[in-house]
Amino acid sequence: MKARNISERVVSVGAVDWDRRLFDALIPLPDGTSYNAFLVRGKEKTALIDAVDPAFTETLLSNLAGLERLDYLVANHAEQDHAGAITAVLARFPETVVLCTPKCKDFLADELHLSPERVRTVADAETLSLGDRTLEFLHMPWVHWPETMTTWMPEERTLFSCDFFGSHLAANELLMTDEGRALEAAKRYYAEIMMPFRPPIRGHLDRLSRFDVRLILPSHGPGWPKPSVILDAYRDWVSDKVKNTVVLPYVSMHGSTKVMVDALIDSLTLRGIAVERFDLSSVDLGRLAMALVDAATIVLATPAVLVGPHPHAVHAAYLANALRPKTRFAAVMGSFGWGNKVEETLAGLMKNLKVELLPSVMVKGLPRSADLKKIDELAEAVAQRHRSAGILSGEPHVIQEA
Ligand code: FEO
Repeated sequence: MKARNISERVVSVGAVDWDRRLFDALIPLPDGTSYNAFLVRGKEKTALIDAVDPAFTETLLSNLAGLERLDYLVANHAEQDHAGAITAVLARFPETVVLCTPKCKDFLADELHLSPERVRTVADAETLSLGDRTLEFLHMPWVHWPETMTTWMPEERTLFSCDFFGSHLAANELLMTDEGRALEAAKRYYAEIMMPFRPPIRGHLDRLSRFDVRLILPSHGPGWPKPSVILDAYRDWVSDKVKNTVVLPYVSMHGSTKVMVDALIDSLTLRGIAVERFDLSSVDLGRLAMALVDAATIVLATPAVLVGPHPHAVHAAYLANALRPKTRFAAVMGSFGWGNKVEETLAGLMKNLKVELLPSVMVKGLPRSADLKKIDELAEAVAQRHRSAGILSGEPHVIQEA
């Protein structure tokens, strides 16, 4: 993507990666992504904010081709998709000084073997004049690494937010035009990247509420010309509010566990509880992560494989544990043949989740009618918890005997 003006003093000089389909060799990117970088041309000094993924170094350098002098390179974040082209930029502009947090300086030394003489650390809330534009550096650790910061430009009330408020969304628009699509992509990004850091993010949102932000320019995806849209969404995602939803990731080898899954869905549906069901043998992990953002309950369903849970279920449990969703209730169910250590193995894998564990339902072979009754009881236990949490209204469900 060629350089384009966002304002008289701000130029977008980053790259759109339309074809990338995987991040961190793990996260699906159905809509590609972008590595945004912004050139701020003050009357006296010029600064580049972020420096794109290494694969797009030539795009960045080409977009800076007409620039005679670059005084500063603001490294808001040391991860390679932001810092990958720093070495090449410093080679092209020998006068440039990198500005970053002290922790970021250490990361850049490790990752890029960057010479410390080319780096100057900035304090939290430190300001830098570019002449008629000012940059204020706001340390915001853990969005999503410990060294991250954002950069505020008061004259244009613009926040260069780095990964914060970003979305993996390749688009040729610089600013969001389709709010629904933008929020969907941003929620996926939050779920995959930011969700483990809800407590620090809450603090950062409080801090940002004191700024009269007109425009947010993240490092991935188009910018937010109506900042309240993404700020309000983030406030909701990091809050303790949960929804009347059960996330039901499952894997089934010979159909017995799937019979149980279908029975649970029927029982939950009768009780007015929404279900998001994911077949772990073909799941989009991003969609599963999104479902975990605000669901009240997770039920993980798996057959026993060599006594323990199926490896797909282990993967899902490990990810859920790492993402630390605000889920309040959890249960395990599935089928086994000759031995069952499924529940204890999965419980051991999900110790980060602050959940009440509901009674699991493990069945020998194909479920019998007594087993299906236990699944119904599990659904009722979920309903009671959701009712107590104030997210399920109406009278307790009464099962009519046939
Ligand atoms: Fe966009 Fe944390 O990298």
